Order: sequence, then C-alpha cells, then structure tokens
Amino acid sequence: MLQITGLTHSYGGDGPKVLDGLDLSVPDGQLVSIVGPSGCGKSTLLRCIAGLIQPTGGRLTLDGKPINGVPDDLAVVFQDYSRSLFPWLSVRDNVALPLRRRGKSRSERRAAAEQALESVGLHDAGRKYPWQLSGGMQQRVSIARALAYRPSLLLMDEPFGSVDAQTREDLEDLVLQVHRTEKMTILLVTHDIDESVYVGDRVVILNRSPARVHADLPVGLPSVRDQIDTRGLPEFVKLRAEVGRLVRGGARVPGAAPAAAAQPAGVAEAEGAAAKPGH
Ligand SMILES: Nc1ncnc2c1ncn2[C@@H]1O[C@H](COP(=O)(O)OP(=O)(O)O)[C@@H](O)[C@H]1O
Ligand SMILES: [Mg+2]
Repeated sequence: MLQITGLTHSYGGDGPKVLDGLDLSVPDGQLVSIVGPSGCGKSTLLRCIAGLIQPTGGRLTLDGKPINGVPDDLAVVFQDYSRSLFPWLSVRDNVALPLRRRGKSRSERRAAAEQALESVGLHDAGRKYPWQLSGGMQQRVSIARALAYRPSLLLMDEPFGSVDAQTREDLEDLVLQVHRTEKMTILLVTHDIDESVYVGDRVVILNRSPARVHADLPVGLPSVRDQIDTRGLPEFVKLRAEVGRLVRGGARVPGAAPAAAAQPAGVAEAEGAAAKPGH
C-alpha cells in the first residue's frame, strides 16, 4: 500500500507551491492513471514517490515505511527517457544493468534483457547503442528495462509520448498484460484521456497547480481489455467524457462517476458512438 498524506512541495523551499496537501492511497496491485493540466505537478508527485526529491511537507509511506530515498523494489520510466539510458552501454546492457540488484547471473540477466526487448518489439536492437536508435525506440528500451526488473511498484511518466499510434497501443496492452501477470502496482501519468481510461483500474485527476486530487474515478470496465471493443463500450465513452470535463476544471458531481452507472454493453450504442467521427 502506498499512502500519501498532505503532500506539499515547493522547489527551492520558498518557491510557489507545486503540490499542496495532496492525499492519495493506492492498494497493492492497482493500476492508477494520473491526469491533470500540463505543469500541474504530476512529474513532481512521481519524483516524491520515487524518493528523488524530499517534499517540503506531508507524509509518504510504502507498506507502512516512510519513503526516505529511492525504494528498493521500484522502477521508473521517466518522461525524459533519452537522458535515462547510458550512452556507453549497449541497449541490452542498459536493460540488464538493474538486474544485478536482483542477484541474477550474467547469463540470466542477458536472457531477461533479450526477452524484455522482444516484448517491446526491439528483438534486434540489443547490440546497438541508445544513440543509434530513434526517440521512440529509446523510450521502448527504458520501458523494457523497467519491465525486466519486475518491480513491485512501477512509476511511468508519460511513457508513450513519442511513439507512433500503433506502437502506443501495443505498449498499452503490454503494460496491461504485465500488470495482470506480475500484479505490480503501477502509477501511470498520461496526458491522453482515452489512455487513462483504457489502462486504468482508476483515474486520478489532479487540479491546476498547486496540485491536489481533484477527482478520483473507478474504472468499471472488464479487466481484460481490447483496443477496439473496450473503446467502443458505453462505459468507456462516458468515462472518457467525464475525465475530459474534470481535467478542464469541471466540478465533481457526487455519485455521477459513470463507472458506477455502468450498463451492460449495448452493441448498438457502442457502434453508434464509434461510427460518429466517420460521418
Ligand atoms: N526542478 C525544478 N525546479 C523548479 N521548478 C520546477 C522544477 N521541476 C518542475 N518545476 C515547476 O513545478 C511545476 C510542476 O512541474 P511538473 O511536476 O513537471 O508538472 P507536470 O509533470 O504536471 O507537467 C511547474 O510550474 C514547473 O515549472
Ligand atoms: Mg511532467
């Protein structure tokens, strides 16, 4: 369980508050999407959870223990992926490096790295160096590195920002699959409202800086998701609209979470919703 209470942060100590009294608790194994206006403090929140910055106020605990420094069983996919890979290590060695902390042998580390690279569609890039790859490929390498580590807590900061649409869908499905099989807790920051609903068990919406939790919506979609079918479900369409409204600063309406009002999947309605943009 990750427990955040009254989290407050100002860079430099006396700068403007970026986070102001933010409360959030995340049970083990949940996949939480975090959305909010640009500059509202999403990356700052992840940095506090990762123990990379010491917040000016509030309390963060992981399994009851205060977070003072980087937790052991954590992996992070940073927004600025290009600076998170070591240019002097091959792609495979970049992915394999953190596995030393897992006490794995050299051959086990290499095998795990190759497997993770294959899962992100980079099976033939292992011997290359990060600077020989495109931005989108480097981003996939940093995702492979995080997944290979099999952390119990995975923080992802706009992880699919620079990949093409098809790869993005494949990576969303990969994260869902890994989440299901490994049962890790995942916090995924995204600016893509559709993505927040598609991957999340829950969508947390932050308000404009200084950030707090503006709304917290359960996602009542079936746990096995499909890029075409799930996105066509009436619950999906409603929830996406609600998250969009809330991100733009709309007021919370008590009891109006669409997930709570989920109806059985009406194929006609779903097809109607999907067909609209084409007309
Ligand atoms: N290292 C830093 N030093 C000073 N201010 C920062 C730093 N990082 C972020 N900020 C400021 O904190 C605010 C929130 O930034 P950030 O957490 O990156 O937002 P988001 O990820 O939601 O776009 C912004 O106003 C940003 O300019
Ligand atoms: Mg950010």
